[in-house]
Amino acid sequence: MKTLCLYYTRTNNTKIAMEHLAKLLGADLAEYTDGKDRSGVTGYIGACFASMKKSYPAITIKGNIQVEDYDRVVVGMPVWVEGPSVMGKALIAQYKDRLPQDIYYVVTHMAPSGYDEKIQAMDKILGRPSAGYVTMQTKKHDFLKDIEDFAKTL
Ligand SMILES: Cc1cc2nc3c(=O)[nH]c(=O)nc-3n(C[C@H](O)[C@H](O)[C@H](O)COP(=O)(O)O)c2cc1C
Repeated sequence: MKTLCLYYTRTNNTKIAMEHLAKLLGADLAEYTDGKDRSGVTGYIGACFASMKKSYPAITIKGNIQVEDYDRVVVGMPVWVEGPSVMGKALIAQYKDRLPQDIYYVVTHMAPSGYDEKIQAMDKILGRPSAGYVTMQTKKHDFLKDIEDFAKTL
């Protein structure tokens, strides 16, 4: 099975998680972005503003990646402002018609809470049921172990 692991990251947590997952699965790995530098305090504030906008930013996937070439795609994203980041939602909205049937979400966050309802609500954007998801706390928590447990279920 040909798998693609995609991630958006601002401070590398989601990148580290998805790199680990891609390695465990023997999958391809690619970053998606809206092209904006969101580092530092200014970047954090920009991320908050982007989260409040009604429209989604335009997303590009770095590298020569064609999502339709894969049997399954795992979309990694952080939580921004009490729910999956607008970047992940924008990726799904923009690519849903090209993505394969098997879609999984990997969602990283600082707080212990899992944001399950809002993660499941992304299926409305996808327009079909996703195949599954995992949510993991990144602060003071061994989230690579969570990734290893998740990888075993795939
Ligand atoms: C704008 C913004 C809002 C955030 N809001 C939340 C939140 O509501 N709850 C939470 O647990 N973490 C929140 N976080 C923390 C991130 O979800 C967490 O640190 C995540 O692992 C970051 O992933 P990254 O390093 O790949 O960017 C927020 C981060 C940013 C930048």
